[in-house]
Amino acid sequence: MAKIVGGVTTSHIPAIGNAIAKELFEDPYWKPFFDGYPAVRAWLDKVKPDVAIVVYNDHGLNFFLDKMPTFSVGAAFEYENRDEGWGLQPLPPYPGDPELSWHLIESLVADEFDICSCQEMAVDHGFTVPMSLLWPDRAARTVKTIPVAVNTVQHPLPTPARCFKLGQAIGRAVESYGKDLKVVVLGTGGLSHQLDGERAGFINKAFDLMCLEKIVDEPETLARYSIHDLVRLAGAQGAELILWLIMRGALGDKVSKVHSNYHIPISNTGAGLLVLESA
Ligand code: DHB
Ligand code: FE
Repeated sequence: MAKIVGGVTTSHIPAIGNAIAKELFEDPYWKPFFDGYPAVRAWLDKVKPDVAIVVYNDHGLNFFLDKMPTFSVGAAFEYENRDEGWGLQPLPPYPGDPELSWHLIESLVADEFDICSCQEMAVDHGFTVPMSLLWPDRAARTVKTIPVAVNTVQHPLPTPARCFKLGQAIGRAVESYGKDLKVVVLGTGGLSHQLDGERAGFINKAFDLMCLEKIVDEPETLARYSIHDLVRLAGAQGAELILWLIMRGALGDKVSKVHSNYHIPISNTGAGLLVLESA
């Protein structure tokens, strides 16, 4: 049977992609951020996942404001990355696992989550930046991917409680898949940041650190916030925390913390990182 071995949450800021391309790993601005990642890669080397379910939000590359599905699951053989206008060089396509995708979609719809199934899907920095941080050696990249895109862009956004439950449903779906596969769940985005309007540049370090702590053993506490609470406490784009809650829901009740890192600011964002292992 398939098994979720653990989860990783990480910010997905586009500037990180440019810093990787320029190899700014020792640059004083970037070093405290990049220093968080070798421990994640060491853990991935140990658990050796076959598939990564990548929960992220599309920022306008694949869906735009005219059509904005709440929850979408990729069911393609591969996922193309395209130019988003950040100066990032598009990366080669990411391999999919359509069979597991369809199992996930069928199981989620049977579980009353009405999913937009995507047999073609382009992935943006919300997906590619975390993949580059976790699997920098593209030649050695054998992990298959399933993109799960969640609307964090155009209100109404799904509530944190709904997202936590979606994560639990993803966990049940993976556990009921007959193939022997090790699955890691990524929740990308966050932590606090606001990119536009009067509060542009808003970061709430105390809130971010509280989230990094509570999501380990008391995720229900975070799932009780409303979207408006999150916008107030974490900034308009800090609502991306709902993606972390989906990851956490998928992991089940008991997890252990393997590693975490927090650094501010990276491009006006509270850059959070957390690795959790399933019990
Ligand atoms: C930026 C973009 C993001 O999608 C994000 O989550 C954080 C920061 C940015 O443009 O800086
Ligand atoms: Fe984002």
